[in-house]
Amino acid sequence: MGIERTLTIIKPDAVEAGHVGDIIKIFEANQFKIVAARLVSLTKKEAEGFYAVHRGKGFFESLTHFMSSGRALVMVLEGESAVARLREVMGATNPADAAPGTLRKLYAANIERNAVHGSDAPETAAFEIAYFFPGIELV
Ligand code: CMP
Repeated sequence: MGIERTLTIIKPDAVEAGHVGDIIKIFEANQFKIVAARLVSLTKKEAEGFYAVHRGKGFFESLTHFMSSGRALVMVLEGESAVARLREVMGATNPADAAPGTLRKLYAANIERNAVHGSDAPETAAFEIAYFFPGIELV
């Protein structure tokens, strides 16, 4: 697999609840390096662009409303097999199905307000990183 980069978002629910520090601590404890970070307050349109692949699904309106409802911390994480490993650290999309100790088990309220996002494949990571970070900002 090798060293990869992936995109994570600490979502508005987790930022509002004050879990940013705890979540970053878990990223670092799992050997992810933060190579870019931006605190954003997404417009509805920006949230729709990011989640364009879900347009047409029943939860799209509600999801993009939630994602534009407050501050979110967007980060690029780097590490060995970062895409797959981040998804393990996050746990299942629905916190009811998430394994003990995963971020979503610890911090998510429900399937929509699920505390964190992580890219689901290397190709998705490339799109998502470019969506938030023009190349020049990446160290
Ligand atoms: P995320 O990993 O950011 O990718 C898409 C998001 O859509 C997901 O986390 C959830 O926040 C949300 N989502 C996925 N499936 C559902 C669903 N069935 N109902 C509500 N929200 C969902």
